[in-house]
Amino acid sequence: MACAFFGMECKVYMVRVSYNQKPYRRALMETFGASVTASPSSETDSGRAILAQHPDSTGSLGIAISEAVEVAAKDASTKYALGSVLNHVLLHQTVIGLESLEQLEMAGDYPDVLVGCTGGGSNFAGIATPFIGRNLEGKAKTRVVAVEPAACPSLTRGKFAYDFGDTSHLTPLVKMHTLGSTFVPPGIHAGGLRYHGMAPLVSHMLDLGLFEARAVQQLDAFAAGVQFARAEGIVPAPEANHAVAGAIAEALQCKEEGVSRSILFNLCGHGHFDMQSYIDYAAGKLQNYEYPAEEIAAALAGLPPV
Ligand SMILES: Cc1ncc(COP(=O)(O)O)c(C=O)c1O
Repeated sequence: MACAFFGMECKVYMVRVSYNQKPYRRALMETFGASVTASPSSETDSGRAILAQHPDSTGSLGIAISEAVEVAAKDASTKYALGSVLNHVLLHQTVIGLESLEQLEMAGDYPDVLVGCTGGGSNFAGIATPFIGRNLEGKAKTRVVAVEPAACPSLTRGKFAYDFGDTSHLTPLVKMHTLGSTFVPPGIHAGGLRYHGMAPLVSHMLDLGLFEARAVQQLDAFAAGVQFARAEGIVPAPEANHAVAGAIAEALQCKEEGVSRSILFNLCGHGHFDMQSYIDYAAGKLQNYEYPAEEIAAALAGLPPV
């Protein structure tokens, strides 16, 4: 997504459930001149094909990617800006981990445990890979934990296989932990974590056992976010609540064991544009989702033969 800066026109396909749940994020993009369309839309072949089958589709990141890639592929003057998953995006975000290393050095500390949340994998890889690099060099032994939503558990329950990055199969195949490119995750408020796959580099690192993954339910994530806000004065984004839940679980584990550990986690976004989700949480309107086993099995049955 780029906006009307530098004379560029900007078109955003925003996952329909997020379009409805996060009106202020949409308004922010529009304020900067972007035109924002709820996906799936009737503007593209990909969107129309989905709507023909599922007129009430909530959308998914895989579908929104298909729509954006299709528009870019059909117009030589249009470029598609990728926000996660591919390795160069992960590389850009390593500024988080590199800066954390320097700040911790200034503080005279080093993490025993590191926690991040995973959607496409970029903020997690951004904070974790500089520390995993040090582990691999034998300079440290930080335990690294990725936290994902139980409603979209690509790392903990997905298959490590070649799959498409989008629902309409316009992208190249990548080897990743996947729930199947046609899987449409339940409409949890952590919209940024509703992606069927995982960055190939993150998937490879999990396969090598360089970090652990765990899944948390939506209500536990929000309970952690509210606890964090009341203690620290910062309201986290629903996505970041997963990392907060992971960090609190690690702290409670220390308490149980009677040991002290330094825990570093990535607060990857504030929740100021997501207050509707906190309103709904406080009103008791949010729910947990069971592992959608049948839908995932159906989506995995469609994996491309490689
Ligand atoms: C605040 C926030 N955190 C995390 C993510 C997940 O993306 P990634 O796993 O690529 O960091 C998103 C995605 O939109 C997000 O908005």
